[in-house]
Amino acid sequence: MSEQLFKVTIDNITVEVPAGTTILHAARQIGGEVAPPAMCYYSKLEGSGGKCRTCLVEVSKGSEKDPRPMPKLVASCRTTVMDGMEVKNITSPKVLDARAGVVEFLLINHPLDCPVCDQAGECHLQDLSYEHGKEETRYEFQRRTFPKVDLGDKIQLHMTRCIMCFRCVFTADQLTEKREHGILDRGDHAQIATFIQKNLHNEFIGNVIDVCPVGALTDKTFRFKNRVWFTKPVDAHRDCENCCGEAQLWMRGDEVFRVTARKDEWGEVKEASNGKTGWICNTCRFDKKEAKDWVIDGPSKINRHSVISQGHYVGLQKPTETLPNVLHGRQPKLLMDIHSVSEVNKQNIELSALDRPAHSTDFK
Ligand code: SF4
Ligand code: FES
Repeated sequence: MSEQLFKVTIDNITVEVPAGTTILHAARQIGGEVAPPAMCYYSKLEGSGGKCRTCLVEVSKGSEKDPRPMPKLVASCRTTVMDGMEVKNITSPKVLDARAGVVEFLLINHPLDCPVCDQAGECHLQDLSYEHGKEETRYEFQRRTFPKVDLGDKIQLHMTRCIMCFRCVFTADQLTEKREHGILDRGDHAQIATFIQKNLHNEFIGNVIDVCPVGALTDKTFRFKNRVWFTKPVDAHRDCENCCGEAQLWMRGDEVFRVTARKDEWGEVKEASNGKTGWICNTCRFDKKEAKDWVIDGPSKINRHSVISQGHYVGLQKPTETLPNVLHGRQPKLLMDIHSVSEVNKQNIELSALDRPAHSTDFK
């Protein structure tokens, strides 16, 4: 029997999708800005979605049979399409206003520590606040803070940054045999915590780092080692007995700084070549940090609007160093004092030692 298809129009673009498809997935089929942002929904995790409300849309026509609009904005990750439905996302001022409100709520307790956060450059909340947020907050109370917690020796939880999306809890629940962490307490006391101070040891637990949309769960083997936009992501694989062995290496020169699962355009872990979700094991993620451990497939595809694309150059060869050649193998040494030959500033002025801004009289 052929699949029943429903016509749905989102931001004036019509697509046909199988019955049972959510509005979010229909919008992702169109792509670009028509697809609402999603902070808690993760297509590979059963039961995810419906928590953050960033994916709100306006249903201006319910269906062909019942054209009444839906009275309130709905979460597109949890609402399925009807035949003839009309939806407004970026064409609805109501949606944009509500989304700005949601971002304001998400940022109430979230610190603005992007300059020191390892997630900067690939943080969904950072993108969301740039695209949908307001410039200022109206919040006047003290923000909640938590001490940093080590979840085992490879993962650090910075609860202060958590937006309670539940993705890591679903990951631990669905990918590992025994979940040892969850959400404790309620309301503004709610927090991600390990039961009775237990560490997370499971071989697949590292995937919680990949699903966390913010910098609440970070890889301790990468923390503060580099900014993500200075590294070059390449796709690589290895023979692994635990997982698909298909990963992304974040390199600088020949050095592997970080290993993650490969992500798709929605920031979710991609399907591996065996057709299953490409979750990677802890051994691949934390222990295989040398280029020789991997077979490099080539540069990863990075959206050119992403800040990461700036360090993304094709090929793996480092530029040839000319100096050792002409020096017959000897390494170059810094032989001159740049300051004394630069002829930019006056000889008696050390620009870096000034306790005031430099001005024209300091220069020649
Ligand atoms: S730690 Fe990250 S993945 Fe887990 S609930 Fe918080 S924001 Fe979501
Ligand atoms: S993505 Fe839909 S509610 Fe969070």
